[in-house]
Amino acid sequence: MRIMIAGGAGYVGSHTTRLLAEAGHETWVYDNLSRGHQGAVLPGQLIRGELEDRPLLESVLREKRIEAVMHFAAFIEVGESVVDPARYYQNNLVATLSLLEAMRSVGVQRLVFSSTAATYGEPETIPIPEDTPQKPINPYGFTKLVVEHALADYAAAYNLGYAALRYFNASGASPSGQIGEDHRPESHLIPLVLQVALGQRKEIRIFGDDFPTPDGTCIRDYVHVNDIGQAHILALSRLEPGVQLKYNLGVGQGFSVRQVIDACRTVTGHPIPAVVTPRRDGDAPVLIADSTKVREELHWVPQFDQLEATVETAWRWHRSHPHGYADA
Ligand code: UFG
Repeated sequence: MRIMIAGGAGYVGSHTTRLLAEAGHETWVYDNLSRGHQGAVLPGQLIRGELEDRPLLESVLREKRIEAVMHFAAFIEVGESVVDPARYYQNNLVATLSLLEAMRSVGVQRLVFSSTAATYGEPETIPIPEDTPQKPINPYGFTKLVVEHALADYAAAYNLGYAALRYFNASGASPSGQIGEDHRPESHLIPLVLQVALGQRKEIRIFGDDFPTPDGTCIRDYVHVNDIGQAHILALSRLEPGVQLKYNLGVGQGFSVRQVIDACRTVTGHPIPAVVTPRRDGDAPVLIADSTKVREELHWVPQFDQLEATVETAWRWHRSHPHGYADA
């Protein structure tokens, strides 16, 4: 299939693009490089542009005869979304509406959309099935939820076929070691812990150890970025005009912040000093996916179901690219 990947220079987008290309799809990356990296894109693939640039976007969709779009282009920092919500509504919502309109005017009727566990807020049921009420607690989560609603309305009214994939904690890197995670500034746990192992940070801060969990630290479901990418390919194969798919992407196992740090100690052999600091605003105590639906309906089987194996791939990337894409 001929696929345009919006945000294909970012973390999950770049990994998914490689997997799509390996699976025989024709891919083009559409990215403004505001957060993504040219080094994450295969040579000759990058079309640099804004999603709000309707003429450019429509000409790409038309000239490349695009049959499906994958949309990864978004800002993802919860804290930043609280401080500067306007950027999030503009980038994650307004730009997405522009993409949807460009697709509608050209007649592209298949979309896979990156949604998030953050749309659930602080759910009462753990693990979290897809029919859990979505009550986001920050602007980031709201922007993603509003897009999900827009997609449902576009499907009903205009026959758009879409999959909204709600990621839990995307982690790890391509086993090839060629691409990986590089956020500026970095805020995610595993890369920050590995920066301690690289000697770039003195210690890792644990944001609170007074949560209602066995060791007092937050529990998350760490799902390998390539497994997320494979789920996109499976979802794409089920998309027809008007079809609506919604799936959680998580392994279904939770690990505490302390357990993640321990896994990183095992993988790196570094003692990784840790200090406990106050909680970070907006952190839910426990987020674990119930991923039964995607496993049953799409036959998705995460290949990385052991945290240490996921951390190993991340470590391979960070060790060979200690400054991320600046080393690529
Ligand atoms: N944490 C620390 N110390 C750090 C960084 C993180 O203790 O230096 C903790 C956090 O408090 C949290 C856990 O590690 O409990 C995981 O934090 P991340 O920032 O890696 O991931 P989040 O669960 O906060 O965020 C994930 C995605 C985000 C997305 C969010 C939505 O990585 O992109 O889910 O829920 F926005």
